[in-house]
Parts: sequence; structure tokens; C-alpha cells
Amino acid sequence: MSDSKAPMANEDRPVRVLAVSSGKGGVGKSNITLGLALALASQGKKVLLWDADLGLANTDVLLGLRTKLTIHDWLKGKKTLRDIVIQGPLGVQILPAASGILELGEISESEKKRLITEFESWRDELDFLLIDTAAGIGPNVIFFNLVAQERLVIVTNEPTSLTDAYALIKSLSTKHDQNQFYVVPNMVKSFKEAKDIFQLLSNVSGSYLNKVSLDLAGWIPYDEAVPAAVRSQKPFFLKDPNCAATKNISLLATYLAQKTPPGFGGGGLVLFLNRLVNRPRLVD
Ligand SMILES: Nc1ncnc2c1ncn2[C@@H]1O[C@H](COP(=O)(O)OP(=O)(O)O)[C@@H](O)[C@H]1O
Ligand SMILES: [Mg+2]
Repeated sequence: MSDSKAPMANEDRPVRVLAVSSGKGGVGKSNITLGLALALASQGKKVLLWDADLGLANTDVLLGLRTKLTIHDWLKGKKTLRDIVIQGPLGVQILPAASGILELGEISESEKKRLITEFESWRDELDFLLIDTAAGIGPNVIFFNLVAQERLVIVTNEPTSLTDAYALIKSLSTKHDQNQFYVVPNMVKSFKEAKDIFQLLSNVSGSYLNKVSLDLAGWIPYDEAVPAAVRSQKPFFLKDPNCAATKNISLLATYLAQKTPPGFGGGGLVLFLNRLVNRPRLVD
């Protein structure tokens, strides 16, 4: 299909679309994405969290909420996106994952119009769309990183996490010309450890990927309050408002909220939608 034939979304409202990835799984991506959504919401931002970890979607589990409908039900044409969304705490809305997402690239013109119309009707109600992507660097992860306008990579102080984060950054830079990344070290003991991890990733990226620019957007300490909150199916941000992880996720939200992404004028939700429905086939 040619881009000229595809429907285009119209004027934009500055909705920031941010993909959260990690390469390696189990590094705290879902907890940080949900924590960030809640922290932004507590700072007055309107947030939609798209749980796009297709294999291991679990934002609803972290919240102790149940979901039956997914975007697959939207694809079948029986439900609107708003029917599917779960209302989370602090006004955060959650769009549950579905294995049908890659089919979005294959949908008909009328379905594309429907998708754009529905998302556009949300525009005034959103400041941020956060996308919790899957582990790995498969087509889905690359897809969401390309339809998003900003990219955040979570790393821990393990060689496997750093290697996988680097592989993700390398793939997005060399194959897709995406070169700007926020980096957030998680489960670290100190700011020094966070800086060391960031430096290591910067050095490797700088040596081999000359266009890449990394930004240490924040860091989250190892905090027992996080697994304890997971066990009780309450987000740590709400269960433990004074714990170290909550304090730092709030700092991360403040940092990101004051950023103006490059080329923001014509970006945001419209860019996201147009990329979502007009994306080229991915060759991984
Ligand atoms: N800052 C942290 N301190 C302690 N444990 C953490 C922290 N962040 C995440 N965890 C733990 O790591 C595990 C994986 O987190 P999760 O958010 O599900 O990772 P992912 O989405 O990357 O697979 C969870 O059991 C969670 O409790
Ligand atoms: Mg996860």
C-alpha cells in the first residue's frame, strides 16, 4: 500500500508518545512504566498506558485489575478502544495488550480511519501515551519503538541487560535511524552505580554507533518495596509513597515532563497514528 492512499490524521495536540523497552526481560520495565504513568498522573498529566508486552502482559496484574477485552476485540470490530480500556488509579487509563497488534499494519482503509478517529477523539484527554513493550528486540519491540516518538531503555547492572540494551539501540540506530534514547538504570545501589552503568553503555554506543545520543533520564534504586508491592498487586507508587523507588520514579517523571522532544511541532499522537497505520513492513 502506498502512503499517499492511506488515511492521515489531522492536526495535532501535543500528546507525547514514549516507548519503554529493555532488551532483556525481568529488569523492571512494567513496574517502571506503571510507576511512571502514576507519577506523571500525580503531577497532573493525563496518561494512557498501552501494555504492549504481548507475551507477558501484566500491567493489569500489577494493579490487581482484571481484563477480558484486548485490542483484538477492537480488531474484530465489536468494541471501541474506550470499551477496552481499563480505568486505573489516578485517572491512568490502560489499554491491554493483544497478539493481534501486528495486524494493525494490514488493516483496511476503513479500519484505519476508525482507528484514527477513535484515537483522535482521545486527544484532548491525553498528555502522554506510554508503551510497555516486550522483552527482546523482535519485530514487535522494534515496531513500537518506531511508532513512538521518544524511546526509554531500562537497564540493570548485569552484563546480559547491558548487552541486550545495546543490541536494541544498535538495531534501532543502524536499521531504522532512531538515535536518541533516554536511559534509566534500575535496581542499583547508588547514583554512582547508575552513572557507571550509563557511562558503560555510552562508551560502547559511542565507539560503534556514532549517531547515537543517550540521556540519563533518571535511576531507580533496588528497593524491597517494589517486589512487596508486586506481591500485594498494588503499584509501589501508591502502596509506598515514601519509598526510595517512588521518590526516584517521581524525579524521572518530573525530568521527562519538562523535556521537549526533538521535532515535536508536528509529532505526538498524529505522528504515532500515521506511523501505526502506514508503517512499512519490518524486516528484522
Ligand atoms: N527497583 C526495583 N527494586 C527491587 N525489585 C525490583 C525493582 N524493579 C523491579 N523489581 C522486581 O523485578 C521483577 C521484574 O519486574 P518487571 O517490572 O515485571 O520486569 P519486566 O517488565 O522488565 O519483565 C519484579 O519481581 C519486581 O518486583
Ligand atoms: Mg513486563
